[in-house]
Amino acid sequence: MTVNLNDAQKQEFLNKYSFHTHTCGQLRESDIDSTVTLCGWVAKRRDHGGLIFVDLRDCYGVTQCVFDPDIIKDKFVLGEQMRPEWVIKVNGFVRHRPEDTANDNLATGQIEVVLEDCEILNKSKTPPFAIEDGIDTDENTRMKWRYLDIRRPEVTDALKLRDKVCFALRNALHNRDFTEVETPILAKSPPEGARDYIVPSRVNQGCFYALPQSPQLFKQLLMDGGMKRYYQIARCFRDEDLRADRQPEFTQVDIEMSFVNQDDITDLMEDILQEAFGAIGLDYSFPLDKVQYSEAMDKYGCDRPDRRFGMLLQDVSDIFEGCGFKVFASAIENGGVVKAINAKGCGAWPRAQIDKLGEYAVECGAKGMAWIQVKEDGTVNSPIVKFFSDEQIATLKERLNVENGDLVVFGADKYSVVCEVLGAIRLRIAQICELIPKGTHDLCWVVNFPMFKYDEDAERYTAEHHPFTRVLDEDLDKIESDPAACGSYSYDLVMDGFEVGGGTLRIHTPELQRRVLHAISLDDETIDEQFGFLMNALSFGAPPHGGIALGLDRLVMLLGGFDSIRDVIAFPKTSSASDPMSEAPSEVSKRQLKELSIKLDL
Ligand code: AMO
Ligand code: AMP
Repeated sequence: MTVNLNDAQKQEFLNKYSFHTHTCGQLRESDIDSTVTLCGWVAKRRDHGGLIFVDLRDCYGVTQCVFDPDIIKDKFVLGEQMRPEWVIKVNGFVRHRPEDTANDNLATGQIEVVLEDCEILNKSKTPPFAIEDGIDTDENTRMKWRYLDIRRPEVTDALKLRDKVCFALRNALHNRDFTEVETPILAKSPPEGARDYIVPSRVNQGCFYALPQSPQLFKQLLMDGGMKRYYQIARCFRDEDLRADRQPEFTQVDIEMSFVNQDDITDLMEDILQEAFGAIGLDYSFPLDKVQYSEAMDKYGCDRPDRRFGMLLQDVSDIFEGCGFKVFASAIENGGVVKAINAKGCGAWPRAQIDKLGEYAVECGAKGMAWIQVKEDGTVNSPIVKFFSDEQIATLKERLNVENGDLVVFGADKYSVVCEVLGAIRLRIAQICELIPKGTHDLCWVVNFPMFKYDEDAERYTAEHHPFTRVLDEDLDKIESDPAACGSYSYDLVMDGFEVGGGTLRIHTPELQRRVLHAISLDDETIDEQFGFLMNALSFGAPPHGGIALGLDRLVMLLGGFDSIRDVIAFPKTSSASDPMSEAPSEVSKRQLKELSIKLDL
C-alpha cells in the first residue's frame, strides 16, 4: 500500500469503512442515477407543500435530499418531523436538480438525492446558535458549545487546514530522516523562562513536576544521545497572560539537529516550509531574507517586523540636536534619540484622533507623542512646529518624504523606548488606515539577537532566547565584562508581523554553559541543582547542535487568514485561561488534596 494516498483513494477508504457510500460533499453530475447512502446532520428543512427538502451536512459538505411522498411512501412523515441537527441515514438515487434550482455555490449543487429510505439515528435539541458560517455569536457562547461550533464549515475547515499543514511538515521531516521522539510532560521546573504549570506529586509528597514550556533540554539531551535529527509535534505549556496569539497550551513543531551551523538549519526549514505551503496550494518565493535583529529594531521598532507596508522609523536626531524644543533637545543630550514616522494620508485626522494615538503611545511606554500635521492645502498644524527653523522643517520633510496630507509622529527618549513605541504606533496606524493588503504574506528571518537582556525589575541579566544559546564566537570574551554587547547564534522566523518560529545554536561545552549561567546570576549551587543533568551530559562528549521550534498554531492561523490562534485550536482556552465547556480549571475534592498533603490558603 502506498503511504500517501491521493484524494480519490482516501475517499474510497472513507466510504468503505462506514455506514455511507458517499460523503455529503462528494456527489457530482457523474453520479447521476446511482443509488447512494448518506449520513449526516440536518442543516435545513424546507417544506414546499408536497415535497420536503433537507440539506444534509457532514464535515465534507452539504447535499440536498428530497422527500417525495410518491417515492418514500410512509416514511414521508419523517421528513415532516425533521428538525435541525437531527442525525439521519438516508438511501436514495442521485438525479439532476431541475434547471433553475441548481446552486453553483455548492460543490454538490447540480444534483440532489431523491430518498427511498430514511432512518433517524439521533434527535437534537434546538442548538443555541445557528450551525452555519458567518454567525456573529459571541466567542464564549461558541466555546461553551464548541462541539456544535465545530460542525460549522468554517471551523471544520480550519481544523482540516491545521491537519494538512501539520501532516505536510511531519512528512517533510520524516522524509529527511528526522526521528520523532516523545519527551516527558511531567518534567522538572526550570528556574528560567515563563511561569510554569506545576503538578503535585502524590508519591513524592511536597514535590512538584512542571509541565514543559518546550522540550528544549530533552531535545538537546537527545543530541547528546547521538540522535542527530529529532522532531516532535510537541505540546507546550506556559502560564502567561493570554493574547490572540498566545494560549496556555500550544503546539510546536520542535526540531533539533547536530553537526550543523545556523544556515544549515534555516535552509532546511525553508525547504520544509516550501513543501508544506505547496501542500495547501500556497506558492511563496524562497529563499527568505535575513534581517539583522538590530536592523529590525531600528527600522520597524520590533523584532518581528511586518514588512508588508512601509512607514519605516527614521532617525532625525541630527536635525533637532540643540533645538528649542526641550523634549527633543534633552533626549538627545541625555544620549537618547529622536525618531519619526510619516503616516501618509493622515494629514486630515481630527485632533481627537491624534490625541488618542498619543494616549496609546503613553500606554506603550512613551512620555508623550509629538506630531506635525501637513494639511492637504499645505498649512502646517502642530503644537511644536514653532520651535523649529524653516531649515529644520525642510530637512525633516525631505528625509521623511513629507507631502501635503501627511502626519509625522515623533518619539524622543532612550533608543530602545523610542523604537518600541514608534514600532507599536506604526502598526496601529497601519491597522486604522488598512494599509496591509488582505491575503498577502511576508516571511523573513530575523537573525543575530543579543545574547542577554537586562531585566530592570530583577536587576540582572536574563537570556534573550534561552540560556542554552551559543554566544557569537567573536563575543566570547565579553560574557563577563559586557554581557549587553554579546550577540548570539539565533534566528526567529517571522511571518506577517508574528513570530512563528525561533531557534538557536546551542552551547555544547560545560565550561561555556557555566559561564553563561553565571552571567544570568545563577550561582554554582543553583546550576548544579537545577541543571546538573545538563552539565553532566555536556561533559560526556556533547556534539555541536542547534534547532528551532515552529509555533504551529500561529503558522496555521496566518495561513488560514484568522485573527486568533483560538480559531485553529479545537478546544482552546478563553483569555482567562479557562474552558467554558468543561469548566476547567475547577476545584478538586478534599480527598484529592489530602492525598497530596495540600492545604489551600485562599
Ligand atoms: P520559543 O519560546 O520562541 O522557543 O517558542 C517557539 C515558538 O512557539 C510559539 N509560541 C507560542 N504559541 C502560542 N502560544 C504561546 N503561548 C506561545 N509561546 C511561543 C511561537 C514561537 O516562535 N525551545 C525554544 C525553541 C528552540 O530554541 O529550539 C522555544 O520554545 O511561534
Ligand atoms: P510638552 O512640552 O510636555 O507639553 O510636550 C509637547 C508635545 O511633545 C506633546 O505633544 C507631547 O505629547 C510631546 N512629547 C512629550 N514627551 C515626548 C517624548 N518623550 N517623545 C515624543 N513626544 C513627546
